[in-house]
Amino acid sequence: MKEKKIRFTYSAYNNISELSKDDAALLELARKTTKKSYAPYSNFHVASAARLANGKTVTGTNQENASYPVGICAERALLATIGTLYPGTGIETMAISYHSKKGNSSNPISPCGMCRQALSEYETRTGKPMRLILSGLEGEVYIIHTAKDLLPLGFGDANLK
Ligand code: THU
Repeated sequence: MKEKKIRFTYSAYNNISELSKDDAALLELARKTTKKSYAPYSNFHVASAARLANGKTVTGTNQENASYPVGICAERALLATIGTLYPGTGIETMAISYHSKKGNSSNPISPCGMCRQALSEYETRTGKPMRLILSGLEGEVYIIHTAKDLLPLGFGDANLK
């Protein structure tokens, strides 16, 4: 028997002013896009903004439903849009922000388990690592260097071969 260890490294910044110009612009866009979220049930308004390998920028928001499980997260809504508009195009960076109408919005959130699975497959599909910028409307910012870091020992297409 062997104990194995998985480690990953990410970058933590005090606030948006420490980011590069491009990263700061993408995070600003995600923050602003939280206004477009449809979240009347949770009051937790999430938005994502992606910079693609083809230079385009695309946004997504969570879209809830009175039948709760029908709702979709901002990250997967965005992947579906990108997969439709620009199939197979790599995502260089995705910024994820939120506005909680119930509490404060100053701590970074990171994608739910289902979104991690979807982000991981998008990386496999395009063969490109996707950086993630995680932050609320203010405060600390985390940069994850590749989405797969958030899903160690993940299930993927290779398991079906
Ligand atoms: N949500 C997202 O859109 N992305 C996340 O990373 C976390 C959660 C949404 C789902 C639901 O509409 C609301 O936030 C509360 O869970």
